[in-house]
Amino acid sequence: MKKITIAIDGFSSTGKSTLAKQLANVLGYVYVDTGAMYRAVTFYAMQNNWVSENHLDKEVIISNLNHVNLKFQYNADLGFAEMYLNDTNVEQAIRTLEVSQNVSKVAEISEVRAKLVQQQQEMGKEKGVVMDGRDIGTVVFPNAELKIFMTASAETRAERRFKELTEKGQRVTFEEVLENVQQRDYIDTHRDDSPLVQAEDAIVVDNSTLSKEEQFNLVLQLVNDKINS
Ligand code: DC
Repeated sequence: MKKITIAIDGFSSTGKSTLAKQLANVLGYVYVDTGAMYRAVTFYAMQNNWVSENHLDKEVIISNLNHVNLKFQYNADLGFAEMYLNDTNVEQAIRTLEVSQNVSKVAEISEVRAKLVQQQQEMGKEKGVVMDGRDIGTVVFPNAELKIFMTASAETRAERRFKELTEKGQRVTFEEVLENVQQRDYIDTHRDDSPLVQAEDAIVVDNSTLSKEEQFNLVLQLVNDKINS
């Protein structure tokens, strides 16, 4: 069967990764969570005190990029690939609110983007890939056969994220999470290099009102239409 490239972009906490994982499992495609890669670089920089709330050692981060080795390793029990930073599993460590609060600053650095985009293009060169992020349909795979742009209101997204974080035992308030979602939206859409924009040929999926199942069925239909076209 024909294999295609599926690019899923959109605002943070719109459920991109849940949808992308489901699609990859059903289609037998490789799933690449590009946000995890930006988070892992950020986590590395945080461990070395190169980034914090009011501080960013941009040049030091750039000069140490060749010490950052990122790898995805499939975990059959979980049904998706986990993120490894220099051979350590950081899948949990990169999902904290602290990492979320620093990641947009690191993702603004052009040298970081260039390195990660090159790795992403390499991972997707065989097609049969579902990749989610902010610039997949615009920069990483501008020729992707199917581009989805996901959106939902900031409040809906913050509610989901708040539930996710508190279920994992993290002590955060709803206001903190909402503020983080709004801040990241602002930085992601206003940065100079590869800002989050909807590709002209992307199909918008607003899931404020769609259930996960409705959304999945809708997108699966779009995929099948592309595969059979
Ligand atoms: O998808 P996520 O929330 O895990 O992504 C974390 C951050 O990484 C997000 O705030 C913006 C950045 N990012 C990016 O700039 N480009 C991508 N392709 C993916 C994520």
